[in-house]
Formats: sequence, C-alpha cells, structure tokens
Amino acid sequence: MNDTTATSAPGQIGKPPLRGMRDLLRIVIVGHVDHGKSTLVGRIFYDTGSLPEGKYESIKAMSERRGMPFEWAFLMDAMQAERDQGITIDTSQIWFKSERRDYVIIDAPGHKEFLKNMITGASQADAAVLVIDAEEGVKEQSRRHGYLLHLLGVRQVAVVVNKMDLVGWSEKRFREVEAEYRAYLKGIGVEPAHVIPVSAREGANVAARAAEMPWYKGPSIVEALDGFNPVAPSKDLPLRFAVQDVYKFDERRIIAGRIESGTLKIGDRLVFSPSNKMARVNSIEVWPADRAKPSTAGAGQSVGVTLDEQIFVERGDIASHEADAPIETDVFRGRIFWLGKEPLTKGARYKLKLNTFEAPVQVQAIEKVIDTGDLSAATPDRVERNQVAEIVFRARRIIALDPYSDLPRTGRFVLVDKFDIAGGGIISMEGYADQRSLITARSTNITRVEHAVSREERWRRNGHKGGVIWMTGLSGAGKSTLAVALEKRLHDEGFHVYILDGDNVRHGLNANLGFSPEDRSENIRRVGEVAALFARAGVIAISAFISPYRSDRDRARTAAGEDFHEIYVKADLATCETRDPKGLYAKARKGEIADFTGISAPYEEPETPELTVDTAQRSATQCVDDLVAYVKQRFRI
Ligand code: ADX
Repeated sequence: MNDTTATSAPGQIGKPPLRGMRDLLRIVIVGHVDHGKSTLVGRIFYDTGSLPEGKYESIKAMSERRGMPFEWAFLMDAMQAERDQGITIDTSQIWFKSERRDYVIIDAPGHKEFLKNMITGASQADAAVLVIDAEEGVKEQSRRHGYLLHLLGVRQVAVVVNKMDLVGWSEKRFREVEAEYRAYLKGIGVEPAHVIPVSAREGANVAARAAEMPWYKGPSIVEALDGFNPVAPSKDLPLRFAVQDVYKFDERRIIAGRIESGTLKIGDRLVFSPSNKMARVNSIEVWPADRAKPSTAGAGQSVGVTLDEQIFVERGDIASHEADAPIETDVFRGRIFWLGKEPLTKGARYKLKLNTFEAPVQVQAIEKVIDTGDLSAATPDRVERNQVAEIVFRARRIIALDPYSDLPRTGRFVLVDKFDIAGGGIISMEGYADQRSLITARSTNITRVEHAVSREERWRRNGHKGGVIWMTGLSGAGKSTLAVALEKRLHDEGFHVYILDGDNVRHGLNANLGFSPEDRSENIRRVGEVAALFARAGVIAISAFISPYRSDRDRARTAAGEDFHEIYVKADLATCETRDPKGLYAKARKGEIADFTGISAPYEEPETPELTVDTAQRSATQCVDDLVAYVKQRFRI
C-alpha cells in the first residue's frame, strides 16, 4: 500500500481532496501526551501511502546524517515546524486517504490549543481515535479525553492500545487495559466501536493486520475508520440561520450568515430570535455574485438573504421557521468543561458565545462538579481547570438557544473570561421553561381605555394603598397558612385584602395547567397579572404560590410595578419534607409525582426579597406579626 502517489504542496502533508468525489471523514486523535499519537499519525500516513513523495526518504536521510534512529514522530515534528513557520496553507488540518475514502485529522496531536479547538466546535469531528499506552495503561488524561468526546457528542470512537511491541505483544496485558477503559467508558454511557492492539512504530494493526498478534481478530485502525460514517449535514432538522452581518447594498439589505441546520427557501417566513421580528425571504444571495442565485440553501452553507420587509436584524440573531423556533430564556443549564486559568465561581460573570451571539452571563449555581477520573460528583463552590461541571447560568436579557440533545450545532457554547476561552459546553433546559410564549404578544389592533377613577381616589376611599404581597417558597414552607392568618388579621383591621392561592387558582383560572416548567411559568404569568389587577383596584392581593422561577417572579413584579412586595417564606427542604402536610413529598420520593419542586424540579431562592419570614426558625404567630407590621408600615396612608 506504500505507493506515495499523493501530490501535495511543498511542505504539506496530505492535500485537500477534491470535494464531492469521495466521502470525507473528520477525525480527532486524542489521548495522554506520551502515548504515541504523533508516531501513530506518521505511520498512518506512511501505511496508507498518503505522504508526499520523498518525504519519508528525506527525513530518514536527515536522521541518519544526525546519527539518530528514525522516528515516525519526526514526520509530524517536521510538519509542525513548517506550520509554525506558516509554510503550509492550513494551520490545523491534515489530510490522508484510504482506499475507501478521504480523511481529515482535525488539529494535529500535541497542538497546544487542542482542547480549546475541540470545545469551540471549530473542529467538529465525525469520529475519534483514543490512544492508550499498553505499558503505562489508562491515565487521567485518557479518561478526561474520553469524557470530553462524550460531552461533545462524538459517538464513533476507536480505542487504540498502542506500543504492544513493548509488552511482548501480550494478549493478557491488552485485555487488562481494554477491560479497565471499557469499564470507564461504560460509566459515561459510551461504547467504543473497537479496541485495537497496535504498535504504531512497527505498523502493526495500523493499516494492515498484525502478524504478531494472531489472537486479535478485529480490524486494523484504518479498517475501523473505514467502517465509520460521516455525520450527515443536518438538513432535515429545524432551520437555524445564524446572522453574521447585515450589509447595505444600494436599496437592499443583505443578511449574511451560516445555516447551522435545516433548509431555507425563497418565500419562507422567518422569525428572528430573540427579537421575534418576522419577514419573508425575498432572495437568497451567494458569493461570488455572478453565481446563479439558488432558491433553497441548506445546512453548512453560508448565504445571504434579502427580506420582504425592512425589519431590524443584527449579528447574533437566529432565524428559524415559526413552527420550530429556538427556546427563549434568560436561564439555562450548561454541562461545561472548564479550561480557565482562574476557577469558575458562583456569581462570576463570563461572556457567553453561542454561534454568532454574545452576551454576558452570570453563574447562578454550581450544581455538580464531576471528577472525570472516577466519575464521582461533589458540590463545591468552584470549578477548577480541567473539571467538568453542571452549572445554571443567568443572562440579563432573553436569549435564543437550543438544548444540545435537540440540535447539537446550536446547543453548544463557549465561555470567555476577559479575552481567553475559559470553557465550553452543552446546553440543557431540564427543569426550565421555554419563555417564548410568555413574552410574545399575539393581540393586534388594541387600544388602552383610561379609567375615570384614579389610583389615589381608590386609595383614599379604602384608607390604604393597593398592592401585591407575593409569597414564594417551597411546598410546605407555610405560604398558605401565613396567607390565611394574614388575610384575617388585616381584614379585621379594616384592610381590603384577598388571597390568591396556588391550590385554589388551579381549580379555576388555571385548571388547564400542570406542573411542567412551561405550565408553572404560565400559572405565575396569569396570577401575576391578576394580582396586579387587584392591586390597581385598590386591594391588597396576597399570593401564595411556590413560584419557583426568578424570571416569572420578576415578570409578576413588572406587571404590578412599585406596589409589588416579594416575601420569601423560607424553610429548608428537610423541614418541609418533615412537615409534608399533604403527603406529597413522600409520594415524590417514591417517584409517584414528577417535577416535584425541591426533589425533581428547581426552586430558585429570591435574591433580594423585600422581606424574609423564616418558618423553620420562628413560630407562625411571630411570622404573621412580622407580616402585619410590614403591611401596616407600607400600605397605610
Ligand atoms: S407553582 O410552582 O406553579 O407556583 P403552585 O403554587 O401553583 O405551584 O402549586 C403548588 C401546589 O400544588 C403545592 O402546594 C402542592 O400542593 C401541589 N402540587 C402538585 N404537584 C406538584 C408538583 N409537581 N410540584 C409542586 N407542587 C405540586
């Protein structure tokens, strides 16, 4: 197979294949630093006949001149040196070919930015080769890289147990390493397609099967790679067109961007998130301009579109079809891989990069830190370099995103600390609501009616202001108990007061809502609006809802304006669970109630409530006294 027929630019190993003629598979080669990745790559090139003519001979002659034994890794070193001098055209990708297809190795082994490149997704791989040294066995980095592949969704993995010549081609040693690493991968839900005993130096099981290991019946590395498939461009998934720029050309405005998934056609009605402006596609523009204009464009293409209406669109917007638009939220979960020099800490702010979109985000909670070595989880208050963690992030404004499990291309993100890429990860919305429907107004042609009775006139008649006493807290924290007592005391003192209670409102106004994140958010949106109406009518509305999400409570506050008072009815989970007045915690623990707040659904504590009443520390009477005093002070005129 060693016919060196590939023609290349001087200094470049491999050449970009003529696209479209043959399959192309993008691979990464990962593993511990000394486990032989460079040797392996050099050998793959040689054994597949992908080296430029004379390259092997010239490096061999050079090592002889210098009195050094030839090493396959020299090929890679030579190439690395050329790349450092900028001789080769492409700085991070190298090509080789098998009889079946063409390959590109994304990022050369040993490249300093390797992890960052993998995380930024600049280099999305179809498949991976993970190299482990037969003598040294599984190292921390072997595990970490395996975890990273899993995290980034590289599903086609071949594990190579290298340097088999150094362990006397021992099947026993191979099986030991194989068993250990398979067990680790199983723990993270990965099953390697093959585990292959190899000697890269001797070329055993690289392209050709090794005569030295007759006990091994599986494929060589190149055969294993030939068995993998390119990950299909996701044309059938929902459309995601990430806006890069808006150009003004004569009268027209061209919105330029990249189609990350799906297909776009002339005449399609697009919604741009998160602004939610809509318009139809007039034309699809491609470069250079003398190329025929297409009527459709699909995943992977960079195109421009003109629209039938001059709506405001900017870099970072994501265009989609209306029926399957991205999620809109100001809070999301990220499973991240942290590379920052400084640890990630709760409350810290970073720049989020999501496709072309950028915004500051804050670490709201560090839910879990996973040790990639033994897969144990802990809940420390910081995430150190090279750790994997589950984080809740909060943005100041609504952003558009996709869960990674739905759309991998738009479901991954990068975090920047000052100017450095400090981490990256994938998005999950588990336990959190898509807020799109809550913030989208659908009524048109409506005009406000002015009242003839003013707010102050109502206040004077009642002898007090109207407003909202918004109680939030876990189920069993005592919201309803306190609300009932507070209502009675205030009523007796001449206040106009009325309770809106979760369990009651869910019998009527919100009988059509359950406990999914979206339903809870809609529950609170409606109650927030109703409470605001009560307040404007001059009444003191006491609301008693778990209202677990900060975003929902903030919207309720916006609805009521300055007359909103957030009261945190505080009791820790253990206390609420001991009380369990309705027996619901017991049921939830048995798995009989899904999405139960505190157990299997989130509760976000208020950050700056107007008042906290701690029912775990103080008696109900004391808490009610505090509430009555608070209301008298704030609402009497
Ligand atoms: S909220 O989350 O949407 O604000 P809400 O206050 O209306 O909840 O209703 C909470 C009450 O519903 C609880 O006190 C409890 O009695 C009952 N409930 C039923 N299912 C659940 C659940 N999955 N999580 C929390 N409470 C539940």
